[in-house]
Amino acid sequence: MHFKIAFIGFGTVGQGLSEILLEKKEMLAEKYDFHCTIVAVSDIMKGSVYDENGLDMVKILEIVKKGEKLDEYPTGIKGMDGLTTIKETNADTIVEVTFTDVKTGEPALTHIKTALGAGKNVVSTNKGPVVKQAVELLEMAASNNVHYGFEGVVLAGTPVLNLARYTLAGNKIKGFRGILNGTTNYILTRMEEGMSYDDALKKAQELGYAEADPTGDVEGLDALGKVVILTNVVLGKNLDWKDVKRKGITEITKEDIEKAKSEGKRWKLIGSAEVQQDGSIKAKVWPEKLPLSDPLAGVGEAINALTFHTDELGSVTIVGPGAGRRETGFSLLIDLLEINRKL
Ligand code: HSE
Repeated sequence: MHFKIAFIGFGTVGQGLSEILLEKKEMLAEKYDFHCTIVAVSDIMKGSVYDENGLDMVKILEIVKKGEKLDEYPTGIKGMDGLTTIKETNADTIVEVTFTDVKTGEPALTHIKTALGAGKNVVSTNKGPVVKQAVELLEMAASNNVHYGFEGVVLAGTPVLNLARYTLAGNKIKGFRGILNGTTNYILTRMEEGMSYDDALKKAQELGYAEADPTGDVEGLDALGKVVILTNVVLGKNLDWKDVKRKGITEITKEDIEKAKSEGKRWKLIGSAEVQQDGSIKAKVWPEKLPLSDPLAGVGEAINALTFHTDELGSVTIVGPGAGRRETGFSLLIDLLEINRKL
């Protein structure tokens, strides 16, 4: 299949996917018969450009890496905002990678609804819309005969949603527990080595792990969004973000970390949800002091880990990158290849 793609938002994740598509072009064509042309890029800060015949993405990446606006691109139509790009370009597939707001889901929710309503596929790493309306959006995609993929909303390109949906199919998944935020895990790892909280956060931002507003990471809101998504998409429940008890890592001091060390323990921000006997859900995001013998205690850096509690296999754990430019960009390729396979 030949996709015509528009990027709505062009931060680190969108750029990461663009690099992968350029570097793996031949492999994707030969192995999967996957072909694509990027026809539009629209970003609230960087400006926008549209060419129905396709953009030279090497040039686009050069422009944004220099910190210049997309108006510097020599040809094409400039100035189309996200919604206009979705509605008025010849793109058949929208890559929605604007900033995340798990409280309202906007502006991504409107972008995605508009795209699906216009009969366009959507692949997105944006957690907001999935937290707010995963089921409704999947139904909307199905009734419009298009696809909505969001593998990257939990654990970036580490394929947890595909694991639960396809590979663990036939199991009853009763709950989960894991390290669901890369930024905080990175910060805790660096703090254990003696780095200050502020320096560690700055480094996590430089490496592209943190959200545009990192408060969401350190206060546990990002992990909370992932708990809601996993509960609703994998456990099939209808949890609201307000139903999850939450505490982030901002109150963990150097002294707390040293104390844990002397006790042979390690702080981790843990997100979990379990289906109770009566069918209700107990869900929370909370810092826990784990003994080093706990497998999650050994997961450092921006690596995430997720254990599913299943009826047939007991605990099944997947460990892998949970954030980062290429790692999250890659999750969008997983979704694109899935659409390619289905079509
Ligand atoms: N800010 C997120 C994290 C990115 O640090 O895990 C991936 O959702």
